[in-house]
Amino acid sequence: METDKTVETASEQVVNPWEVSAKDGGKIDYDKLIDQFGCQRLDQSLIDRVQRLTSRQPHVFLRRGVFFAHRDFNEVLDAYERGDKFYLYTGRGPSSEALHLGHLIPFMFTKYLQEAFKVPLVIQLTDDEKCMWKNLSVEESQRLARENAKDIIACGFDVTKTFIFSDFDYVGGAFYKNMVKVAKCVTLNKAMGIFGFSGEDHIGKLSFPPVQAVPSFPSSFPHLFPGKDKLRCLIPCAIDQDPYFRMTRDVAPRLGYSKPALIESSFFPALQGENGKMSASDPNSAIYVTDTAKDIKNKINRYAFSGGQDSIEKHREIGANLEVDIPVKYLSFFLEDDTELEHIKKEYGEGRMLTGEVKKRLTEVLTEMVERHRMARAAVTDEMVDAFMAVRPLPSMFE
Ligand code: TRP
Repeated sequence: METDKTVETASEQVVNPWEVSAKDGGKIDYDKLIDQFGCQRLDQSLIDRVQRLTSRQPHVFLRRGVFFAHRDFNEVLDAYERGDKFYLYTGRGPSSEALHLGHLIPFMFTKYLQEAFKVPLVIQLTDDEKCMWKNLSVEESQRLARENAKDIIACGFDVTKTFIFSDFDYVGGAFYKNMVKVAKCVTLNKAMGIFGFSGEDHIGKLSFPPVQAVPSFPSSFPHLFPGKDKLRCLIPCAIDQDPYFRMTRDVAPRLGYSKPALIESSFFPALQGENGKMSASDPNSAIYVTDTAKDIKNKINRYAFSGGQDSIEKHREIGANLEVDIPVKYLSFFLEDDTELEHIKKEYGEGRMLTGEVKKRLTEVLTEMVERHRMARAAVTDEMVDAFMAVRPLPSMFE
């Protein structure tokens, strides 16, 4: 499987749950991805609709196009407008102790959705997945799941509306019954087509997709949604997870279930530039939530790819290339103030502002964000983790 993919990478972009690489070392072509995957673009009219339905300004990630694609999000909003609520489902594969900023994006966004729509949320920690793919022991995967749960809780989720579960602990009962129903609908040929499995892969990998599929069905959570089999599910995720949910949506009608709706994000780029990939093996490719203020400053100053010109004279004359500039890109994810962002883009793009000044502002924004996260995480106790992970009803989850 590995060799096939390396060959593919050279000529075509590859986006799947295990690999994200652009064509010929360039940028990911998101328009092409929408075509290939068959999802829909999240356009301004939908964003306006979110604003109307929630009576609040849409999240920066919507305003700036970080979440840019969807499947049936409009249907979920139609139903919401009629007074029918939905539930949110997202997840994380706990493969490492330290999360970087890119890992926080879906959770920050999901927290906003939960608050704005006042809906329940289930968060799957796929410790089984990482045990099989990353060759971690069962125990180590479970330990990482709990550690990651603390970072997730630190994003501010409401314990009265949120259920976090680890696959190793929760799979069974109604959840497992749904897994078996899904598995019976997917042939080996189909799985090989969607996920690129090959004869060399162990059968654990083949058995995994139903595990990630079934949290999309309310009947997998009898303690949360008894008698609510028609409740719709909305999944915020990065677009590399789309294959799992294409499969899920494909089988849902055959099981008499609704298809989950999706709202999908682009990828957060590496410090080295949009053609780079944040890699676990290169700590300088990303800002981690555990980085100190000094680390953050150093990484940004040394590694953040600049679209500024080589000499001040030239920069003053032609300005920065904002298309490739990482400090501006990062600010567009995390600087909330639209007016300030526009100001920076204009001044920097026309050469009046220098790279150093933009990097300084980014350093402030990220240092504050990371510090806030660090404090919130330090306040998360083991009892709180247990509370979020307890199998329990959530009586006020729609209020
Ligand atoms: N497979 C995902 C990962 O490796 C984890 C995950 C499970 C997930 N269920 C999800 C992500 C639903 C988004 C939405 O990180």
